[in-house]
Amino acid sequence: MTDKKNIPFGKPFIAGKELYYIAQAVMEGHLSGDGPFSARCENWLERHIGAPKALLTPSGTDALELAALLLDIGPGDEVIMPSFTFVSTATAFVLRGAVPVFVDIREDTLNLDERLVEAAVTPRTRAIVAVHYGGCGCEMDALRAIADRHGLALVEDAAHALGASYRDKPLGGFGDLACFSFHETKNVISGEGGALVVNRPELVERAAVIRQKGTNRQQFLAGQTDKYTWVDIGSSFVASEIVAAFLWGQLERVEEITAKRMNIWRQYHSALAPLAKRGEVSLPEPPAHCHVNGHIFYLLVRDENARNSLLRQLNGQGVNAVFHYVPLHSSPAGLRYGRSHGNLAVTESVAQRLLRLPLFFDMESDDVERVVAAVSACHA
Ligand SMILES: Cc1ncc(COP(=O)(O)O)c(C=O)c1O
Repeated sequence: MTDKKNIPFGKPFIAGKELYYIAQAVMEGHLSGDGPFSARCENWLERHIGAPKALLTPSGTDALELAALLLDIGPGDEVIMPSFTFVSTATAFVLRGAVPVFVDIREDTLNLDERLVEAAVTPRTRAIVAVHYGGCGCEMDALRAIADRHGLALVEDAAHALGASYRDKPLGGFGDLACFSFHETKNVISGEGGALVVNRPELVERAAVIRQKGTNRQQFLAGQTDKYTWVDIGSSFVASEIVAAFLWGQLERVEEITAKRMNIWRQYHSALAPLAKRGEVSLPEPPAHCHVNGHIFYLLVRDENARNSLLRQLNGQGVNAVFHYVPLHSSPAGLRYGRSHGNLAVTESVAQRLLRLPLFFDMESDDVERVVAAVSACHA
């Protein structure tokens, strides 16, 4: 039961046998990466997404950095992405010397506006990064067509998106590469954690090498080579088996986790519908072909003052609602390393008007009612 006085924004949770599996990993004496729990998690991701390969990484950030290395992104290359995203979407490419090119988002999904992307393509463009905000799929058909027309890589930043789908196919299965996060704020967690999904078979072998510090250790362990040596660039992108053991306890319960979060999401949506009808707030309205996963429930209000005042009032009542991203294009490092394509009016407006309501696995229906009552009281 949640503390009556304070409803946190989010909370790490145990869904099933996580602690038992960690004990099992310890007893079996395999604590570094790529043990039996890592294999279970990776096989699950491969089956769920229909991908040739999934590789666990220590974080979603590492999965993005591995993606940038694997795509040979280099100095002066341009990578199209939204500005309304987490810093790692950009830093992964900036670390390689590339320039993030920020394109505006759609107000209905808060995702990259696919209608603006093609005009941002230049001879230096190498990739498009589609961030599925709150688990709502970007328009992957349109983005794939643009990527193919211009010979660009398509990368999904699927940090929010495990368990969500686009046109009935799981997100993570559309890009050449997809990057997941299992940070404790996500739907499925392992404290810190992530995965790179490789959808192009010809990239699988090199992905394993880069992830293993640039060595052919994976091939060596599989008996495919008699030497274990340095063959390429790489870094330390392997997740520990302890983390994988915890993650496996969650992945086996993913349907239950998603269903629970979606119940909360739906409860918010229907209870707040009257406020939306009166034009006091806007609610997320995912397109019919995008099935979301209950990762985020957000409200858009009139302006920044209304948002800040609502946040103050909710926090004052022990409801820890929060805002979200400060747009990257206006941040100090974004100004230094990136550039904007056209104006980013929707991004700027949404960043000022958005707040996220508490949503976590153990949240009870009473807690949701309390949040709804607090939001409604602010609009009485
Ligand atoms: C959209 C997005 N991309 C990437 C990341 C990075 O994931 P991690 O925290 O696992 O490094 C996050 C984390 O919040 C995110 O929200």
